[in-house]
Amino acid sequence: MGHISDENIPNNVNLSGDKKLQRALEPWQQDFIKWWMEMGPSGFQANNVYLRTAISVETDGWAHFDFLRMPDYRWGIFLAEPVANRTIGFGESFGQPVWQDVPGEHRNTLQRLIVTQVDTEPASVEQQRMLGHSCPSLYDLRNLFQVNVEEGRHLWAMAYLLHRFFGREGREEADELLARRSGNEDRPRILGAFNEPIEDWLSFFMFTMFTDRDGKYQLLALAESGFDPLSRTTRFMLTEEAHHMFVGETGIGRVVQKSAELTRQSAHGNPRELGGIDIPTIQKYLNLWYSLSLDLFGSEVSTNAASFFGAGLKGRAKEEKFADHIALQGFYPMELPASDGGLQLQQVPLRSAMNEVLRDAYVEDCQRGVDRWNKTLAEAGLSERLSLPSRRFHRHQGAFAGMPFDPQGKRLPQEEWDRRRDEWIPSAADKAYVKSLQARPITQPGQMAQWIAAPPRGINNQPLDFVYVRTEA
Ligand SMILES: [Fe+2]
Ligand SMILES: [Fe+2]
Repeated sequence: MGHISDENIPNNVNLSGDKKLQRALEPWQQDFIKWWMEMGPSGFQANNVYLRTAISVETDGWAHFDFLRMPDYRWGIFLAEPVANRTIGFGESFGQPVWQDVPGEHRNTLQRLIVTQVDTEPASVEQQRMLGHSCPSLYDLRNLFQVNVEEGRHLWAMAYLLHRFFGREGREEADELLARRSGNEDRPRILGAFNEPIEDWLSFFMFTMFTDRDGKYQLLALAESGFDPLSRTTRFMLTEEAHHMFVGETGIGRVVQKSAELTRQSAHGNPRELGGIDIPTIQKYLNLWYSLSLDLFGSEVSTNAASFFGAGLKGRAKEEKFADHIALQGFYPMELPASDGGLQLQQVPLRSAMNEVLRDAYVEDCQRGVDRWNKTLAEAGLSERLSLPSRRFHRHQGAFAGMPFDPQGKRLPQEEWDRRRDEWIPSAADKAYVKSLQARPITQPGQMAQWIAAPPRGINNQPLDFVYVRTEA
C-alpha cells in the first residue's frame, strides 16, 4: 500500500502513465483505506470472501471470482469503452461532439452533480456496516460484502473524475466524500435516504431493491451526459449495479415466499407464530423505503432539472427512445397540490418535468418487481398482495413534502396521519420484531434463517452450501 499502480488499482485510464494523477490519488488512497477500516463492514475484514472483481470492461470476462479479504479488494477505475464519434444527445448542444474535458461554463454544475451522486456510494457502505453480525446465511453475507466493495469501487471511479478533471476543488470534494458520515448530525451525507440507518436485513433488501434502483436511474440519466468521461464511468457502474438490485428483489422475494409457506403451516394463518415475517409488515417496510427513494428524484417541478437538461449534462433514461431531444415544446401533465388543499391537474413545461419523467421510468421498474412477488403469493394460494403506495405518500421532498396522504394517495388531516402512521410505516414494535429474528448470524454453509427461503441457486454456479465466507480463522 501507499503507492498507486496498475497492479493495486486496475484501470483503463492509463494511470501508470499519469504521474500527476498518481500523486493526487496516493494520499486519497490512504484516507480511503482508513475510511474503509473504520466505516466499512464491521467484523469479517480478516475473513476470506468469495468476491467478484472488475478486471476489464469486456462484456464477457470483466468479472473475476476469487477468495480475498475485503481490504485487499482491488478498487478499480474503469470507464466503458468510448463510443466512436459520439455526439450530445439532448439539450441546447444537441448533435455536437461530446466533451472530453469539462466546459468552463458547466464546471460547477457538473461537479455538484457528480458529488451528489457519488456521496451515496460511501453512505450506503456506512449504513450497512453492522449487518454482517445478523446475516441470514453465508450466501447473503457474501452478497452484502459484494455490494459493499462495489460501492467502494464506485466511489473510486467517481473520485477519479473529481481528481482528474476538477482541479483543486475536485480534490477537496473527494476528501469531503471520506469525511461525511451517514446519519451524523454535524456532517451528514447529502441526501436524506442515505442518512437512515439500515439495521436489519429486511431493510437491506428494501434498500437494494428501491434505493439502489434510484441509483440505476440516476446513472442512466448521467450516462447520457455530454461530458463523455462521466457517461463512460456511469455506464460501467451500471453493469455492477444490476447485481445489487438482484440482491434486493430476490431477497424480498425469498422473504415473501417463506412468509407464504409459514402462513399455511401456522395454526392461525400468521407466519409470526413460526418465526416468519407477515405480509403487512413487509408492506410497511416497502412503503418506507419506496417513499424515501422517490424523494431522491427531486422536485416534481424543477428549474435545476430543466437547466441540467438544457446544458446537456443530465438526460433522460435511454434518451434515444424519445422523439424530441430539445424538449422546449410540450407539456407534462401532473397532479399537484392546489391552494384549496386538493389536487389540481397542471401542465408543466417538459424540461421542468424531467425529474418526474425519470421517476415514471423508476416507478414502472419497481412495479415489475412487485408483480413478481405477487405471483409468488398467488402461486402459494394466498390472497394477500403487495403494492406500491401512491407517489404522494410519506414524501419529504418535492410538491407533497410534509403533507399527509394515505398509501392510496388520499389527503388526510394531520391528526389522522399521526394516529394511523403505524399502520403504514414500520412501528417500533415491527422493527423490534424483525430485529429479534436476526439476533444471531447464520453461518453454517447452506443453512438459512427461519424467516427467509433459500435462493434457487448459488453465486457463479457454486452450490448453495458453498462456503461463501470463510468464517473459521
Ligand atoms: Fe453504486
Ligand atoms: Fe449499488
